[in-house]
Amino acid sequence: MDGTLKQCLTRLAVEQEFLPFYTFQQQALYHPIFGYYTRTRSPFGRTGDFYTAPEVHPVFGQSLAKFIYDHWCAERLEHFPQRVELVEFGAGDGRLADAVLSAFRRQWPALYEQVHYTIVEISPRSIREQQERLGRHPHVNWLPRLPQLSHAFIFSNEFVDALPVHLVEKTGNGSWLELGVSWNGDRFVLQRRPLVDAELLDYANRYGRELPVHHWIEINLDVLDWMRSIAGIVQHGRLLTFDYGAEISELYPDYQPTGTIRGYLNHQVVSDILADPGEMDLTHDVNFTALMDQGTELGWDTLQFTGQSQFLVSAGLLETLTKNPEFDAGLARAIKHLLLGFSPKFQVLLQGW
Ligand SMILES: C[S@@+](CC[C@H](N)C(=O)[O-])C[C@H]1O[C@@H](n2cnc3c(N)ncnc32)[C@H](O)[C@@H]1O
Repeated sequence: MDGTLKQCLTRLAVEQEFLPFYTFQQQALYHPIFGYYTRTRSPFGRTGDFYTAPEVHPVFGQSLAKFIYDHWCAERLEHFPQRVELVEFGAGDGRLADAVLSAFRRQWPALYEQVHYTIVEISPRSIREQQERLGRHPHVNWLPRLPQLSHAFIFSNEFVDALPVHLVEKTGNGSWLELGVSWNGDRFVLQRRPLVDAELLDYANRYGRELPVHHWIEINLDVLDWMRSIAGIVQHGRLLTFDYGAEISELYPDYQPTGTIRGYLNHQVVSDILADPGEMDLTHDVNFTALMDQGTELGWDTLQFTGQSQFLVSAGLLETLTKNPEFDAGLARAIKHLLLGFSPKFQVLLQGW
């Protein structure tokens, strides 16, 4: 582990006595220099810690481009003929953006000229990688936050599960404990204190009702703030979220007392979430019920909620094979991997307003 991040977290844990897990995860992933997503080693692909769908093959992005074309462009161009605004949050190494833009350029060249692609990305290392990969697409820009837009198709892949979460545990009398981190002189250990924050309590009572005693849930307030800010900025939009997760009724099976929070290192799951801050990814399964509820509160409609495989098939993934005059074994393998090789927990949520 990098000594500097360890020192930094140790100091924080000692100073604060109780370091909320949220702060520990936020620093472990996004510390400006030593964070897992900000340091120099890329987490993606064979030499990294995990594969995401865009890493498998550009056909994932090509299917997304077809979906955007079918479900957004035609309707939008009637009202806003000059511009198609696409926004991607947390674009990783830029492969998805490249695949989407290249598909537009190849299939709808006139429309490609009207596409403005904005990336909102927190990691300077990822921004550099994205800029190198996307240099040949002229209408891409990078912004630290979403700009004011009258209309936009906004999407992300494995962005929501990369946001830091609060961890809480149910007690025998129905109250809640907040989990935090302290330093015992040798290693980081978990600590508990009564949960008093009103927003966290509200969430825990709403989504943790059915949870057995001593079980944990993750609380992702950042995603709810993110959706609120999108609603305040974009007048007409679609929000398409690809991520691991489930509706709340299926998210926390009884045999899983410590929730869904876990680490990833060298393509292996690490159950000790405090083990190597900054060295491994820390992620959780997304509570899609909370995203749908938040959408409803913002006046949005849930337009689609489906598994990734079904989404890709209905977006035309299989037709990409038959369109090719010659059989492409690499493409066939990638399609098989995208349809069968990803966990069935991979979901797609489309919301609109
Ligand atoms: C798990 S990676 C997924 C990358 C890419 N979408 C893919 O599928 O390969 C999460 C991405 O979200 C970015 N990210 C995390 N928090 C962010 C934030 N608050 N704003 C913008 N980007 C963020 C990370 O830097 C990283 O690029």
